[in-house]
Amino acid sequence: MYPIPETAPFGARVPAYLQRLEHALNTCLPSAATDPKRLHEAVRYACTGGKRLRGLLVYAAGETLGVAPELLDPPACAIELIHAYSLVHDDLPGMDNDDFRRGRPTVHKAYDEAIAILVGDVLQTLAFGVLAKAGVLDAEQRVLMIGCLSLASGSLGMAGGQAVDMDSEDRTLSLERLEWLHRHKTGALICAACQLACIAAHAPYPVQQALDSYGKSVGLAFQIQDDVLDLTADTVTLGKTSGKDQVQHKSTFPSLLGLEQARHRAAVLFDEARAAADSVSSDAEPLLWLVDLIQRRDH
Ligand code: IPE
Ligand code: IPE
Ligand code: MG
Ligand code: MG
Ligand code: MG
Repeated sequence: MYPIPETAPFGARVPAYLQRLEHALNTCLPSAATDPKRLHEAVRYACTGGKRLRGLLVYAAGETLGVAPELLDPPACAIELIHAYSLVHDDLPGMDNDDFRRGRPTVHKAYDEAIAILVGDVLQTLAFGVLAKAGVLDAEQRVLMIGCLSLASGSLGMAGGQAVDMDSEDRTLSLERLEWLHRHKTGALICAACQLACIAAHAPYPVQQALDSYGKSVGLAFQIQDDVLDLTADTVTLGKTSGKDQVQHKSTFPSLLGLEQARHRAAVLFDEARAAADSVSSDAEPLLWLVDLIQRRDH
């Protein structure tokens, strides 16, 4: 189902990859008609929309390493489930207290706080379940993927970054600490997308290292860009309330460096990602295409 056309560039294949990803998500999520219906409806609501960039990164890295799409569907789906959960919890009143996400009310606004907490629980456990049950991968690959995603999502990765983010409201961080925060709260999952593709490919160590450095550059650049967009884009374009970082006195790259320097830092990182892509493979077009897409994004 949803065969990937062989024509270049990667962008011509993106719609088919996105169809595969939506199908994988739709298949793993319990039906909204299954009891408890309100929870399942909210779980599906939380997974709707989004640019699916982490899933696409799994496909782009996997394709660059010659992996068949079937082997990439489970990790692409799992990482988008973890990401969706992280957004639902990030928006809660106890965290960023946001009302608007992906162009509509946040889960705790459309439902309630208890449901939003449970939606996060459901999505996180489902992500690991999807990998555990991925019969297209061998047992060792499944265990390695579960370990990789768990490390990237937990206190040494995304959740750890989120903890430092919350702890730093109303305080001015050093640039070094802010970079650490961004590399954890956002960079860790983006790196994990690359690592999951490496596991699917049984990639040799030098390739893993090259993709890791690509993921690190894209990951940090992505969050710097998120900080910049929070300041410069409007709420409708963003699909989430703009200007929130200033309201909540968050340290951001623009608040510490100024807008132009923050943009410059992101641009340098995107160029570093391109150089890293070229050292992954002599034909890293999917990875290069994705850097262009991410760099040009307006939401
Ligand atoms: C938003 O991520 C949260 C950050 C890590 C900055 P995305 O901008 O990828 O959000 P969606 O999935 O497209 O909604
Ligand atoms: C959140 O960063 C990153 C996550 C781990 C969810 P932000 O709080 O800046 O993300 P947005 O701006 O709400 O999407
Ligand atoms: Mg946040
Ligand atoms: Mg937020
Ligand atoms: Mg933000």
